[in-house]
This record gives sequence, structure tokens and C-alpha cells, in this order.
Amino acid sequence: MGINIKSRREIEIMRDANRIVAEVLETLREVVEIGMSTDELDKLAVKITRERGAVPAFKGYMGYPRALCVSINEEIVHGIPSKKKRIRNGDLVSLDYGVIYKGYYGDAAISVGVGEISDVAKNLMKVTEESLYKGIEQAVPGNHLSDIGHAVQSHVEGNGFNVVRDFVGHGIGKKLHEEPQVPNYGEPGRGVLLRNGMTIAIEPMVTEGTWKVKILSDGWTAVTADGKLAAHFEHTIAITDNGPEILSRL
Ligand code: MF3
Ligand code: CO
Repeated sequence: MGINIKSRREIEIMRDANRIVAEVLETLREVVEIGMSTDELDKLAVKITRERGAVPAFKGYMGYPRALCVSINEEIVHGIPSKKKRIRNGDLVSLDYGVIYKGYYGDAAISVGVGEISDVAKNLMKVTEESLYKGIEQAVPGNHLSDIGHAVQSHVEGNGFNVVRDFVGHGIGKKLHEEPQVPNYGEPGRGVLLRNGMTIAIEPMVTEGTWKVKILSDGWTAVTADGKLAAHFEHTIAITDNGPEILSRL
């Protein structure tokens, strides 16, 4: 129980794990195009991961069937790759990926627009990514945990969008999900005090309309209850006395 504090050495391993995640996501961002199946993206992610001596983290996690999550338009998270599912012009594609390397987890997500995307999709992605960085700014020793979620929520709602409540960020290390849970909403000044050596994944899921979610009959895919768009950005970071260090960045 409790929050695992990582040593400098552990954080360096997590940096290597998360660099692999970042390389995979960067490659997927470059290759994703109209007509491609989400299964092809999944296979490419696995190939790059293996080449780097790491193992995909999500496959088999709580029974999740694939390595990558690909969530399109009204899908928020946990979209399952499929040969039958192809990327179409104007899609807002969220890619969530994790690996295990030398016993430690890396986890990150990006949203990408493919082809001619709508202004609202563009703005939703921009605000979601900005909100992630607003949250990261608050991840400093001496702040409270909820200062992160408060900063995310304020930025999102200030721009007319909403934050999903049913999924949250998390501590990360030797396990994908460690304590604490990191909500993307809340009052400031609540929860544990942040301290040097904590490693957390901050992952705002932001919706154009309602923040209420539905789970599809595949048991995984989370969609917006109103069918409007969602975007998702995630970084794994280390909280240090020198400020937040983003581990899942190239
Ligand atoms: N980034 C998501 C999370 O941290 C991805 C989990 S997908 C799962 O919860 F398949 F592993 F559950
Ligand atoms: Co995560």
C-alpha cells in the first residue's frame, strides 16, 4: 500500500521505457493515414517495441486483447484494433500505448487528426494537450495531488469542453497502475502532498459534449454518451525537486 517512491536509478529505467513508448507513438503519428486499418497500427507498435527489447504492456492486462488502444472520434479510450476498422478522412484518432522495459512500465497517449479535420476536432485536441501540460506544471513537490486535476479541469472547461470522470491517471512504476489515482478534475489543495520520486501518468480525456461515457458490447471501448468527439493525451512524468520531468517525450 501507499505510493512507491522511485530512486534516481529507477527513474532512469522508466525514462528508457517511456522513450520507447514515445518512439512508437511518434512513428504511428507519422504513418497513420486514410484507409489504414487499426490492426496495422497495432502490429507496427508491437514490432517497434520488440526491436527495442521491450514488451507491450496492455496485451493481456485485465484481459485486454491487443497491444495498442485506438479510439476514433466518439471513442474515448480502449478502442480495440481490428482488421475491419479503417481510418477515414477527418477522423480524430487517439493512440494509447504502454510497454514494460527492465521491469518498469511506460505509458503515454496522443490524439492525431487524419486528413481534413473539423475546426472543433482541431480545437478539442489542442485544448486537451494544453490541459495535460497545465496539469504537469502542477506536479511539483509541496503541491497537493488535486492541484493537477484542478488545473486540467479549469483549462478544459474554460474552453467550453468537459473532462471525463470515469477514467483517471495513475501512479506508475513496476506496475501499470499504482497509487495514487490522478483525476482530471477537482478542487485544489486536496489529496496527498506530492514529493520528489513519485512517478505518475497524467491523462486527460476531454469531450466536446457530455463527459458521461458508455461502454460498447466488446466490454472495452468507452464512447461518449452523446456520440460527440473525445480526445486523449497522456504523459508519464517524474516529480522531482527540479520540477516535473516528462519521461515519455523524445
Ligand atoms: N493508458 C491507459 C491506462 O493507463 C491504458 C490502459 S489499456 C489496458 O489505463 F488495456 F491496459 F487496460
Ligand atoms: Co495510463
